[in-house]
Amino acid sequence: MTATDLDACKRTAALKAVEYVRDGMVLGLGTGSTAKHLLMALGVKVRNGMKLRGVPTSQETADLAAQSGIALLQTDEPWVIDLAIDGADQADPAFNLIKGGGGALLKEKIVAAAAKQFIVMVDYTKQVSVLGGSFPLPVEIVPFGWRSTVRQIENVTQSRALVRERGRAPFRTETGNMIVDVHLAAIEHPRQMETALNQIPGVVETGLFVGRTDLLIVGKPAGAEVLTASRT
Ligand code: 5RP
Repeated sequence: MTATDLDACKRTAALKAVEYVRDGMVLGLGTGSTAKHLLMALGVKVRNGMKLRGVPTSQETADLAAQSGIALLQTDEPWVIDLAIDGADQADPAFNLIKGGGGALLKEKIVAAAAKQFIVMVDYTKQVSVLGGSFPLPVEIVPFGWRSTVRQIENVTQSRALVRERGRAPFRTETGNMIVDVHLAAIEHPRQMETALNQIPGVVETGLFVGRTDLLIVGKPAGAEVLTASRT
């Protein structure tokens, strides 16, 4: 499977997700290459007369949404988000996720939590039996005291935690924080892991999205599969 084929699977998932969007909705707009397909497809809907407003989870998404003609809500407005749609890096059989490959996990989680419904789009290679392994868990931390925070993350997870870099400098999120990628062999108990990590002072949020997914849309070469979950 080439990168182009995988991208086609992401597009397939995004086109299916758009079918759940209704006129007048306020959308939570995810970040990443799958979300980009979504925004392009939403642009077609808007050009055909659909009225949509959105809350973007990154500047990149805000720019794409503006190009697609989606009006953006201000960050300090009271939001009523009808539906959030986003990609993910991994999804387990209970539709728990690892997110944050693009570094937007904090805004993504705030928006997903604020939404009445959360739809996740993945290509089929992101479905895993257990989270972790091939994809490290991103954890957002504040810069103050980061070495101490990283050490505590390593103690709690018993795993290697590497500060994400861009160029030779630490990567900074849009909220000015750092990302630590934690190389866990397997996350058998995602909820407990999320709770344990969130108790470390200096940790802002983790890329674990536990019990938040309502609908998982899996893009495959033969089409999109829609899987429904009950929030746990
Ligand atoms: C960004 C994310 C993305 O949703 C995740 O990384 C998937 O990205 P892509 O759709 O490009 O594969 O969590 O923080």
